[in-house]
Amino acid sequence: MDLGVGGGFHTILNRLLTGPDGVGTKSLAVYGRFLLHAVTEDEEDTVLAALAASLRTGDRCFLEFRTDKDLSLRKQFRSHYRRFVKLDEFLDKVRSAGALDCLYAEEGQGMARYGDEDPFVARVHLAPFPKQ
Ligand SMILES: C[S@@+](CC[C@H](N)C(=O)[O-])C[C@H]1O[C@@H](n2cnc3c(N)ncnc32)[C@H](O)[C@@H]1O
Repeated sequence: MDLGVGGGFHTILNRLLTGPDGVGTKSLAVYGRFLLHAVTEDEEDTVLAALAASLRTGDRCFLEFRTDKDLSLRKQFRSHYRRFVKLDEFLDKVRSAGALDCLYAEEGQGMARYGDEDPFVARVHLAPFPKQ
């Protein structure tokens, strides 16, 4: 699916939450490895909005993505779209939208080595703010 096409990701999330028999999952983990930096910021916003609208207490989203500190480091694969995400700005955006909190964030090297490459990445755990 194309994450940039409005509604698609939201529909899939809701299908997972509801389940084929209408019972649905007890809890859902959404995992995106090296995905966030490969999509545009508009697509990122579409993903975050769907997560914010759909995740329930107990659900989680786990993301690992390249950060701005990785910009000048050598890459194993040279030519594809990469957006080097500023972790602080990303977390500010997530939190200020008011629906999702960051339970854990770490930024550094040594977490996603590939061949000769040791990228600067962030790992982030997001969860819905507890309902009042
Ligand atoms: C760097 S690859 C990471 C793939 C895999 N998650 C991994 O860790 O090996 C980035 C992935 O993002 C996907 N991608 C980029 N833009 C997308 C979009 N608009 N909708 C869905 N997937 C997209 C690409 O197809 C690609 O599979």
